[in-house]
Amino acid sequence: MNRAYLTGFGNEHSSEALAGALPVGQNSPQKVPYGLFAEQLSGTAFTAPRHANRRSWLYRIRPTALHGSFAAYTHPHCHNRFDEASTPPDQMRWSPFPLPTAPTDFVDGLFTMAGNGSAAARTGTGIHLYACNQPMQDRYFYDADGELLVVPQQGRLAIATELGVLEIEPQQVALIPRGVRFKVELPDGASRGYICENFGEPLRLPELGPIGSNCLANARDFEAPVAAYEDVEGEFELIAKFQGNLWRAPINHSPLDVVAWHGTHVPYRYDLRRFNTIGSISYDHPDPSIFTVLTSPSDTAGTANMDFAIFPPRWLVAEHTFRPPWFHRNVASEFMGLIHGEYDAKDASAGGGFVPGGASLHNCMSGHGPDAASHAKALATDTSKPQHVLDTMAFMFETRCVIHPTRQALDAPQRQRDYQHCWQGLQKHFDPSKR
Ligand SMILES: [Fe+2]
Repeated sequence: MNRAYLTGFGNEHSSEALAGALPVGQNSPQKVPYGLFAEQLSGTAFTAPRHANRRSWLYRIRPTALHGSFAAYTHPHCHNRFDEASTPPDQMRWSPFPLPTAPTDFVDGLFTMAGNGSAAARTGTGIHLYACNQPMQDRYFYDADGELLVVPQQGRLAIATELGVLEIEPQQVALIPRGVRFKVELPDGASRGYICENFGEPLRLPELGPIGSNCLANARDFEAPVAAYEDVEGEFELIAKFQGNLWRAPINHSPLDVVAWHGTHVPYRYDLRRFNTIGSISYDHPDPSIFTVLTSPSDTAGTANMDFAIFPPRWLVAEHTFRPPWFHRNVASEFMGLIHGEYDAKDASAGGGFVPGGASLHNCMSGHGPDAASHAKALATDTSKPQHVLDTMAFMFETRCVIHPTRQALDAPQRQRDYQHCWQGLQKHFDPSKR
């Protein structure tokens, strides 16, 4: 696992697997070194503002136009049908889904949990789980509908992309830009985790406002791969996700044949343990926006199509206050998962309902907050002493629009239909005669 990476987020990176493969001074000279083809891959409109513009130049053995015709690929569990069942306003929670027993690769192991918006409208998200036990063999995948934020919960992934290989383990994430072709290998065997498919604007670092020029996720902690290519021929398959459906086409060579590249439309990995957490040092629990790692802005200023936030280990030091997240109802909708350990608003000893690999969904205006046991514990906490929250890594995909669970998620045996019971132990304490 001692691969080289290029550090920094959003800046122009470049890499060549063969010395001298990158043309100098112009992107598409008449003759590219080593007999390569020049191909541009744009992830934003050509005329997007410079700071938001994403495009890369790929110098490859063959152009991506070379493959057979696509035919429908029937996938039983991966789709973008977010209107197939009425969405109840209930708080929802799921236990972890099991790992497959039959041979299953990353693509076949996708299971769509929820989503909103649409790939066609370029807004919203698809939220998927993956669970697999086989490397992708003789096939490659790309998603034209959105970029993929991959959040492993168990087992490492080696994601070989057109621009190079990203290796990630749980508590690291990978960001695969829209359209980039890749295959997933499993260094540890079975793996599972979560995926946010972002149909909207590409994820970027949030503005820091009065926080200043440091903290949260630092740009220098994002790592892009170095160029690595396959020069192989054979009977392969190219699988595309396009307008909510999967498609397959024959391809007689590996599409991971980029020898050199430069640009801004590149994959990244990021280690969530490097997140520089900030929080209250006086009183009151700040809004969870201070835990935003990456944000996909919408057309409305200050309102995200999707935010990726995490709840990592941290110190709680605020005095005379309630330290866990308070009870709340938000206009935004929240899909949460737990990568590691225990989440501080849900008591693991009280039934252990929110466990690593599980998920929860609290939609627009659905009240939620700490369960009865966590609430009681927080009221009894001596807030004159700091508290070190350790062994935890929870995350949230937060969206401005309601997140609609799929029918298969609503009907799944893993859905905890008694989830609301976790608040039933909250007692009335009101006494108008006693302040
Ligand atoms: Fe919440």
